[in-house]
Amino acid sequence: MKKPKPVGDLNLREARAEHEKLGADISEHDKRYYQDDAPVVSDAEYDRLRRRYEALEQAFPELSTPDSLTRKVGAKPSEKFKKVRHKVPMLSLGNAFAEEEVGEFVARVIRFLGLQKPPDFIAEPKIDGLSCSLRYEGGTLVQAATRGDGYEGEDVTANIRTIKEVPQKLKGAHTPDVLEVRGEVYMTHADFAALNERQRAAGKPILANPRNGAAGALRQLDPKITAERPLHFFAYSWGDVSMPLPAKTQSGMLDFFRRCGLPTNELTKVCRSVDDMLAQYRAIEAERSSLGYDIDGVVYKVDAVDLQDRLGFVSRTPRWAVAHKFPAEQATTVLRGIEIQVGRTGALTPVARLDPINVGGVVVSNATLHNEDEIARKDVRIGDTVRIQRAGDVIPQILEVLKEKRPRGAKPYEFPQVCPVCGSAAVRETDEKGNEDVVRRCTGSLICPAQAVERLKHFCSRNALDIEGLGDKQIEAFFSEGLIRTAADIFALATRDAKAATKLTEREGYGETSVRNLFASIEARRHPPLNRFIYALGIRHIGETNARRLARHFGTFDALRKTTMKAAADFEARAELDSIGGLGPAAIKAVVDFFAEPHNEQALDALLKEVTPEPMEAVETSSPVAGKTIVFTGSLEKMTREEIKAQAERLGAKVSGSVSSKTDLIVAGPGAGSKLNKARELGIEIIDEMAWLKRIGAG
Ligand code: IVH
Repeated sequence: MKKPKPVGDLNLREARAEHEKLGADISEHDKRYYQDDAPVVSDAEYDRLRRRYEALEQAFPELSTPDSLTRKVGAKPSEKFKKVRHKVPMLSLGNAFAEEEVGEFVARVIRFLGLQKPPDFIAEPKIDGLSCSLRYEGGTLVQAATRGDGYEGEDVTANIRTIKEVPQKLKGAHTPDVLEVRGEVYMTHADFAALNERQRAAGKPILANPRNGAAGALRQLDPKITAERPLHFFAYSWGDVSMPLPAKTQSGMLDFFRRCGLPTNELTKVCRSVDDMLAQYRAIEAERSSLGYDIDGVVYKVDAVDLQDRLGFVSRTPRWAVAHKFPAEQATTVLRGIEIQVGRTGALTPVARLDPINVGGVVVSNATLHNEDEIARKDVRIGDTVRIQRAGDVIPQILEVLKEKRPRGAKPYEFPQVCPVCGSAAVRETDEKGNEDVVRRCTGSLICPAQAVERLKHFCSRNALDIEGLGDKQIEAFFSEGLIRTAADIFALATRDAKAATKLTEREGYGETSVRNLFASIEARRHPPLNRFIYALGIRHIGETNARRLARHFGTFDALRKTTMKAAADFEARAELDSIGGLGPAAIKAVVDFFAEPHNEQALDALLKEVTPEPMEAVETSSPVAGKTIVFTGSLEKMTREEIKAQAERLGAKVSGSVSSKTDLIVAGPGAGSKLNKARELGIEIIDEMAWLKRIGAG
């Protein structure tokens, strides 16, 4: 590890630069810890940064300005949105995909209510946006909140006020004192395309679909930015309303909303039978591509509000409504080529390059072909016209080849038997039972540049070492420049390669400050938490969960390495690995193979000269709270929140920030609010701090 210069050896200029950089890093860590609940450094590493920051100020008092972090108490106030508790929860809808399911839904309603024939239903388009609750008091908009988890959302009032068609004041003299209007915030196809054009021009990321566009716009902290991204709203439901309700039916409520000046969708219809409902479904589907905004189905609701009340809810979905989803959108286009991508573990993945085509408002030019068997099964050939499908956020898929449009002379696709990048043999493994793996893999794992680049990307990625400034693009460029070949090279960049900074400036167009920032963000990751470090190595079958299991079990990297290296020959070491709960045989084999490989040994030795993973505290599995999900809320008397969290985790519990049906136990202190109410609603066990201490045997 590179030791920083003693503070006394620095001159003021150096000290100021380091102080400034450390301040930015510490603020970022504070934000991740306090606001995002997702720290990326261990407490020890955070303390080390803090101590260095303070030492700099002691040696150079001029750095101790009024806005220094040493003068602030605790975390900055949250920059996020205020939380809003929904008086009436915002729940979701059950789905129907087939026509029979609509019939079954209607039959259930009839049976539940003991009717002879179906009641009236209303069919409405299901808008694909984000739901929002607008609270009007005395006819004036006072608050707008997102759905959040259904019980608690975020206050987006300022952003909703930028939507022109949402009235600040309701029309008409007879509006209820309190009226919470619920509906969907969405972005039109045209506005979405223009937004993406601006993103492209500014070199910013392209958004996947209008819903993401709307979500991004609504969750802007600066309403001015929201105003630049036009949003729209359709009202379709309500929450808290002072009595009496202005209408007795859903259709009547929609009319009332319209009279108040709220936008409602025109494509709604009251239906008297299942046939009527399905006819309206088909009518809406026929309009779908010309609406100019995304809809993903039709919602059927029992029209009479008193019947809705009688039907009520099953867990989180109403018995009185269902969403009849549209099938995924499809289109046909020509397949121009098949590109083979080589992943981190050598898997060769075929990707279809297509003539760009608009599928439901999104331009598609790539589709996944999964693997070689899939190409053979569908007999996909270059030049073929193919039918593709896009559903939600998933990668577009090729459904079938239109054989009648196949160009003469098109040949069956031959899947490469060697890695297209390094030329090593590409093989399909067989398991103990003799089954062939569907994936063909490059066998040159240590010489294959494609695998090396993917491994580096993984190493630096957000859930691994999270090295800021080393994104996929930079890694590709640095790799091809020869600046970085292995993970160890990343940390040696600033010190070993004296020319690195010059190369970065001259060839990669980095400014001096960016070089400094990049080097500093690399420096900040020399002490990664053990689980992240293990995950970052990119061992097959070792995802975040298995990495955490290994870290928890072994505590230090050294212990993990020693045991696994022995495991190839030593029965006891092997038995120890087998005993780790949750770790399957494929994962164990992968870890043993990884550490047995001499090249990996060398690479690890080099890496461990640069990086020191923070040991992880061993966790008990026999404690009374092991395996339980616990939420702490309210204030504590005997210890800090951090301490009690760490104590619970040491005892094998999972600590969560929010209450859900997965929560096992709430430890509530004075001042506990919404979480406590929700826990009561869900019937979760609630205890106080004293009882907690007793339970874990410390009281
Ligand atoms: S009614 C109790 N009507 O779909 C359920 N929801 O899957 C109240 N949505 O969260 C919702 N269009 O975001 C309703 N016409 C419509 C809708 C609609 C879109 C969304 C809404 C909801 C989700 C449920």
